[in-house]
Amino acid sequence: MNFLSDTTAPAHPALLDALVETNEGFAPSYGADAVSAGVKQRLQDIFETELEVVFTVSGTASNALALSVLCPPDAMVLCHDEAHIHRDERGAPEFFTKGGKLLPLAGDHARISPDALADALKQWPSDFVHATPPAVLSLSQLNESGCAYTLDELDNLIGQAKARDLKIHMDGARFSNALVTLGCTPAEMTWKAGVDILSLGATKNGALASEAVILFPSVKDHLPRLQAHQKRAGLMLPKMRFVSAQMGAWLEDGLWLELARSANDAARRLSEGLAALDGAALVHPTQGNEVFIRLEEALATRLRDAGAGFYSWPDGSARFVTSWCTTDAEIGALLEAAG
Ligand SMILES: Cc1ncc(COP(=O)(O)O)c(C=O)c1O
Repeated sequence: MNFLSDTTAPAHPALLDALVETNEGFAPSYGADAVSAGVKQRLQDIFETELEVVFTVSGTASNALALSVLCPPDAMVLCHDEAHIHRDERGAPEFFTKGGKLLPLAGDHARISPDALADALKQWPSDFVHATPPAVLSLSQLNESGCAYTLDELDNLIGQAKARDLKIHMDGARFSNALVTLGCTPAEMTWKAGVDILSLGATKNGALASEAVILFPSVKDHLPRLQAHQKRAGLMLPKMRFVSAQMGAWLEDGLWLELARSANDAARRLSEGLAALDGAALVHPTQGNEVFIRLEEALATRLRDAGAGFYSWPDGSARFVTSWCTTDAEIGALLEAAG
C-alpha cells in the first residue's frame, strides 16, 4: 500500500527490455545515435509537428534547461505559487537563467487564475527600466495539486501571455496523466494551444529515468543554446541512447497513455472511496493520479497502522499518489483499513 509518490514505483518491464535491446554493440554518443533519432521521429508523429528534443534524466533538469533558453537573466517567469519550479527545485530555474526571477501567482487548486495573471501583467510592464519584464509563463499540466487545466483555461492564460509576447513553458512531469484526463491530442494540449516548450516526463509513469525537453517550431532555433547549456551543466549524458530508449518504449503503441489511464483510474477509485468516509474531505478535485484529502487524525493513524504509505502535505491534507502499477487489491485493502 505505497501511495507516497509515483517515483517510488518500479520501472515498467517494457522499458527495461528496451534497455537490454539497446545494449547491443556500439553507437554514437551524446544523443547522436539512431535510437534517439527514432524517438524524435516518434515524438514528431505523436505531436503532429516538427520539433527538436533533448533528453534529460530529471524533471528539474528539464524545467531549468527549458527556462534557461526562454528567460534572460534580467527578466522573469510567471508561475503558480505552488509550482514545482518555485517550491521544489532549490532555485534551479534562477541558477540556470543566471538570475531570472520567478513571480508566483495565485489561483485555486494550483491553477493560475486568469485575474491573477491579468493583474501581474498590468503591474509588471515590459518597458519600464526599473521593473523586471515578464518573459515566460510556466504552466504545470498536471499541476502540483493534481489538477489539469482545461483547453479553454489554457487558451485564456496563454492568450493573455502571448498578447504581451511571453513564451509559454509547460511543466509536463505528469503530462500523460493530464492528457488522458482531458482526452485531447498531445498537439491540442501543447503547440496548438500556444505552448512553445514542454518538459515531458516519463519517470513518474513507468520509466527508470527518462525525461525530455521538447522545442516546438516557434522556438526550434533555441536548440544549439539548449544543448550548450545542457553540456555546460554536465547533463549531456554520453550514453544518451539508454535514456531515449526508455522513452521510445514508453511511447510505443500507446503504452504511455495506457499506464497513465491505469494510474488515473486507481486514483479515482481511491478518491471516491476515501471521500465517502466519515472524517475525510477532498481538498482538490482528483483529475490525475494524485489525491489530496483532509483526514481526521484517528483515520489517518488507522491507515498508517495498516501499513499505508502517504505523505502529510504542508496544508494539513494527506497526499496519496497512484502509479502505473497500483492494483485494485491495494486500493481495496486501503479502503478496508479505513472503513
Ligand atoms: C510538477 C512537477 N514538476 C517537475 C517534477 C520533477 O522533479 P524531479 O526533478 O524530481 O524529476 C516534479 C516531481 O515531483 C513535479 O511534481
